[in-house]
Amino acid sequence: MSLKALPNHIAIIMDGNGRWAKSRHLPRSKGHQRGVQTVRKIVKHCGKLGISSLTLFAFSSENMKRPTEEVGLLFKLFLTVLKNETKKLKENNVKLKIIGDLSVFTPEIQLLAKAAEDQLQDNDGLTLVIAANYGGQWDITNAAKKIASKVAANELDPEQINTSSFHDHTSLAGLPPVDLLIRTSGEVRISNFLLWDIAYSELYFCDTLWPDFNEKELDLAIESFSSRERRYGERRGEK
Ligand code: IPE
Ligand code: IPE
Ligand code: MG
Repeated sequence: MSLKALPNHIAIIMDGNGRWAKSRHLPRSKGHQRGVQTVRKIVKHCGKLGISSLTLFAFSSENMKRPTEEVGLLFKLFLTVLKNETKKLKENNVKLKIIGDLSVFTPEIQLLAKAAEDQLQDNDGLTLVIAANYGGQWDITNAAKKIASKVAANELDPEQINTSSFHDHTSLAGLPPVDLLIRTSGEVRISNFLLWDIAYSELYFCDTLWPDFNEKELDLAIESFSSRERRYGERRGEK
């Protein structure tokens, strides 16, 4: 693959697990399990390519509205992944950050999430961000709440609030800007994923269902990214 410019930060809406399972007359759980296998492949590949950050939408705040059975299943899968994958992530020099409103999860999951982040904090390879019970609107509201508290406590002058200081209060503070946002499964919407962060991201939609997504598909998305001219509102390529 010839690459002009690699994205520093890739974000993915991993969609299509249910349809993948349905087309094979399998329960949705199988689709989600296969989805985890794809996550493993993609994390490894991003590490190999030298991508700096990968943010994955694992579970949206709206997904809580799904039937209790499916929500329970997704929570269980999250728990299993936290239990089983941390060692491998450590070996692969991956740093972990979990974003979202984690208060809905069981104390066990919350503790494991914190422990996994702590265990991987000294790694300096790929930063893997998992968005769980995450919503872009929640993220912005949460940042506003933190800022309002500081203003109320006289720790912050409202005149100091700008896009940069606001960003410092959002979930992805400290990470490079999201260069490329990918959504699988043919849906062309954001579904309340990153909102603040995708102001100038390049968007890439593909029909492949998440369990079928692979290294080659990621390379295609990166190739598409590399061929784009990012203008940021300026005039380029002319005198
Ligand atoms: C994405 O797959 C995973 C989650 C939302 C947790 P879906 O479960 O949304 O799969 P489809 O969209 O029904 O195929
Ligand atoms: C977005 O997919 C959430 C995740 C992939 C985790 P959904 O399947 O929940 O989104 P909608 O319902 O198609 O908008
Ligand atoms: Mg879906």
